[in-house]
Amino acid sequence: MRLDRFLAECGFGTRSDVKKLIKSGRVTVSGETVARPESQVDPNTCEVRVDGKTANYREFVYLMMNKPAGYVSATWDKKLPTVIDLLPREYLHFEPFPVGRLDIDTEGLLLLTNDGALGHKLLSPKKHVTKTYVAEIEKPTGADDIKLFEQGMDLGDFVTLPASLVPLTDTKPYFAEVTICEGKFHQVKRMFEKVDNKVVYLRRIRMKNLSLDDNLKPGEVRELTEAELSDLKEN
Ligand code: URA
Repeated sequence: MRLDRFLAECGFGTRSDVKKLIKSGRVTVSGETVARPESQVDPNTCEVRVDGKTANYREFVYLMMNKPAGYVSATWDKKLPTVIDLLPREYLHFEPFPVGRLDIDTEGLLLLTNDGALGHKLLSPKKHVTKTYVAEIEKPTGADDIKLFEQGMDLGDFVTLPASLVPLTDTKPYFAEVTICEGKFHQVKRMFEKVDNKVVYLRRIRMKNLSLDDNLKPGEVRELTEAELSDLKEN
């Protein structure tokens, strides 16, 4: 692989940024200064340093975002801003994509990665990956609703798998926690509509065993920790 591409993929800047770095003699490959951007390096065997700092090559990136309202969960949209617009520049060369979709007005946990195999596994309908949401709803929820969510409900085009509904408040504003193991379009909103209620605000707080980091403000992103990633990869 070319040295300039390698450094760009390690997050040292754009191809033209890293070309300048290399030409200015700040880059060593296995101890020798290399000033030609087109020099070849083997990411598995060469030790590349910039100003003495080791460049760590990696193929995949795993990002947790606290998605704000107003952004589409897609890599591109004709008119609207996307969650990719919120990513720090250093992650763009990985070409991450959102794992699943949150509605434009839904907030909370969104995983972005370029690891297609993991994304596919988490989205596979066969895997029944759980997703937990906090919903603000117009009316209080009770035992009847809990039962209907548990039983699964007919939404016309499909019957939901058993879901859990936990009321969080019994006075206005009404909040409830909902856990579903599918990801159909507008599913949580439609489930509340089916029990004659209405979601006024929705935030995802968990996906499988990955919880939204409370320290992330809306629009902020951080990389998953190694522990979070290995838990997420578990079957
Ligand atoms: N269910 C919904 O209705 N909307 C979302 O964004 C996610 C789940």
